Amino acid sequence: MNTFLNGLRGDRYSLVDLNGVALVTQLLLINPEGRLIPTSLTTEVQVRLFEKTPDGALKRTSIQVSEIARRQLLNSPPSGGLVIEGENAPAYRANGNDYTFASPQPFLGTPILVRLRTRCTACHGSDLSRVMTFAFESFRNGDIPPVRQLNPLAHEAADAVMEKKAKQKDFESLRAFFDRSQ
Ligand code: HEC
Repeated sequence: MNTFLNGLRGDRYSLVDLNGVALVTQLLLINPEGRLIPTSLTTEVQVRLFEKTPDGALKRTSIQVSEIARRQLLNSPPSGGLVIEGENAPAYRANGNDYTFASPQPFLGTPILVRLRTRCTACHGSDLSRVMTFAFESFRNGDIPPVRQLNPLAHEAADAVMEKKAKQKDFESLRAFFDRSQ
């Protein structure tokens, strides 16, 4: 598996080898002392499937997106709280690197409502084939690090993100708020 994944490094259009990709986003929480803690609560699952012609060319990329809905989570906990969103569901257009809610668009200064599928094109290209995980423009010394398989039960990815966040100045100021309210 690792040999296969390592062969894709630096290849942003790895379609020959891939039939699809998925991204699972899990929530970090802040406890009453203002410390970050990992959870296994999934807030979003994004899937892109590459449909191909018999000679292997890309025919169409289909998307599947599920997002957490608090009502669904509380009414039916075994469902995990996820609800499916269709390709044509309304979504705000993303703005370059900005993945926040309703980002104002450049030159317009206001958010634009588009179809969910159109939202994805802002970063994954008009045919949704750009695989971000391997889309390195360059890396320190030109060496792209090898892929390492993480232990999902150990929250390794969350640990790395929490360590980075905890060092940020804005997070420190948030901590001060928690210290005051103790
Ligand atoms: C603002 C830019 C942006 C938009 C818009 C965006 N993505 Fe991504 N996407 C990324 C980045 C960056 C990654 C790599 C994330 C990582 O490795 O943690 C990614 C990763 C993914 C992956 C994992 C495979 C890969 O390409 O690395 C899937 C699947 C995915 N996105 C689906 C979607 C879908 C479906 C949509 C639309 C609903 C969407 N994305 C919209 C930036 C974006």
